Amino acid sequence: MTGMKLRQMIVLGLETSCDETAAAIYDTASGLRGHCLFSQVETHAPYGGVVPELASRDHIRKLMPLVEAVLAQSGVRPDELSGVAYTAGPGLVGALLVGATTGVGLAFGWGIPAIPVHHMEAHLLATLLEPEPPGFPFVALLVSGGHTLLVEVRGLGMYKILGETLDDAAGEAFDKGAKLLGLPYPGGPQLARLADQGRPGRYALPRPMRNKPGLDFSFSGLKTALALQVRDNGGISALDSGARADLANSYQEAIVDTLVARSCRAIESTGHKRLVIAGGVGANRLLRERLRDGLSRLGATVYYPRTEFCTDNAAMIAFTGCLRLAAAPEAFGDLHVTARPRWPLEELRP
Ligand code: KG4
Ligand code: ZN
Repeated sequence: MTGMKLRQMIVLGLETSCDETAAAIYDTASGLRGHCLFSQVETHAPYGGVVPELASRDHIRKLMPLVEAVLAQSGVRPDELSGVAYTAGPGLVGALLVGATTGVGLAFGWGIPAIPVHHMEAHLLATLLEPEPPGFPFVALLVSGGHTLLVEVRGLGMYKILGETLDDAAGEAFDKGAKLLGLPYPGGPQLARLADQGRPGRYALPRPMRNKPGLDFSFSGLKTALALQVRDNGGISALDSGARADLANSYQEAIVDTLVARSCRAIESTGHKRLVIAGGVGANRLLRERLRDGLSRLGATVYYPRTEFCTDNAAMIAFTGCLRLAAAPEAFGDLHVTARPRWPLEELRP
């Protein structure tokens, strides 16, 4: 773990904040014991986005079977568990309630604490699950479907937001761009794959906020610029597959370029030497390459969670729950069910 001396703790983590149902077990003595995930992508694909009510219903169907599977997979008995951690927010309220009520119910039944976990804090800390984790302090670039944040992380619960998006999140920019290019939901990874087949530099797209001071982001102008490019070329059906790939390439380049420029500036302005990537867009190959190159020029190092822990997962929830339980065991005694669709990261305390 992170240098702390602790009695052994084993925590079950549950994640149900959006369209992934997941369960995992983290053990302070031996690390991650098991993790299972069910993705609802196919449920939502026909609708072109996540349908909250369908998400809640799917979580209800899948969560308990995943809990049983992860207990079997890890060989952990319920009486060995120290606590049950669940994602308490931010997220879709109905989806959160499934994990929260299940988590509190299991904890009550097993006579152990229930630990409400902040989903974004868990993303920020996911890299600490890796074999060579970064030490504190670090700067985190949190890029998901709902958030684009640069955060200074000085320790558990010590977060300062350095910059954030003024409009769309980076993942949202990928997803909306994908839609404009006629790609099916979920578009981000598909746009990335198409972009990798395209040629660079064929289409000129803007770099919003590039020359503005500060560390905020904006992506909605870029999306509009893409829509205009598609229109000016006669609409998506008039573009052949080569042109679509080239357009995807220029679009991905513009998003990545913006994220890398801002991240480098955050490293320069804080003087920290570690950048941690979190959230689904962190799975993007070009972003990873460019950040590694950009940061090495600044004498800084970039850290990533493995790809499956960039996107939503329960391993990060079990791990964060463990850290929280270890830091304040007395704080999690009651059986209050916490579900907070909105929950600012900066409200968290050490
Ligand atoms: O963190 P995450 O799994 O869910 C939340 O939003 O909380 O992030 C999902 C986002 C989606 O917008 C998805 O399109 C994007 O991450 N994403 C990617 C890639 N993989 C996932 N965007 C670009 N390139 C990828 N390889
Ligand atoms: Zn997430």
